[in-house]
Amino acid sequence: MSQQRRCVCPGSYDPVTMGHLDVITRAAALYDEVVVAVLHNPAKRGTFGVDERVKLLDAALAGTPNVRIEAFAGRLLVDVCREVGAQSIVKGLRGDTDFAYELPVAQMNRHLSGVETVFLPGDPRFGHVSSSLIKEVAALGGDISGLVPDEVRAALLARIQSQERSADL
Ligand code: PNS
Repeated sequence: MSQQRRCVCPGSYDPVTMGHLDVITRAAALYDEVVVAVLHNPAKRGTFGVDERVKLLDAALAGTPNVRIEAFAGRLLVDVCREVGAQSIVKGLRGDTDFAYELPVAQMNRHLSGVETVFLPGDPRFGHVSSSLIKEVAALGGDISGLVPDEVRAALLARIQSQERSADL
């Protein structure tokens, strides 16, 4: 039997955006299996805990059967690829700033283990979307609908409200 084609879509996913989902679902059409790797640094506290990030990804990707989500703490991406049996890493590129950042990362990963990185051109509808901009816009009352799944929007607004309540105390 031929080997399963498996890739890793890595990220912090704090939280997942429509830009991430576009890249993951396009990768799912190209590979037998996609492992969405939620990589986090245990020393840094994100906006969402790792379990919540995974839960939000699970809900958003429930309709894509050949995708599974796993969390990894303090690990090299190439070690994650080896552990899950992935031959490649798939990343979206929104523009030349992403490319300038991602090229040496891809070269380092190939140097470390031979794993290849496949870049997908980001959909221009989401060229301005990043987790950090989404959080900033939402915190200041801007409309993020259509840029993140509804569950993420609800979770983010709830988080902002609870932070505002504790600031009032
Ligand atoms: O969503 P992000 O924050 O852009 O994701 C960045 C991530 C997690 C993909 C990147 O930081 C990463 O690959 N971390 C794993 C650690 C690692 O392998 N570092 C060496 C890269 S050459």
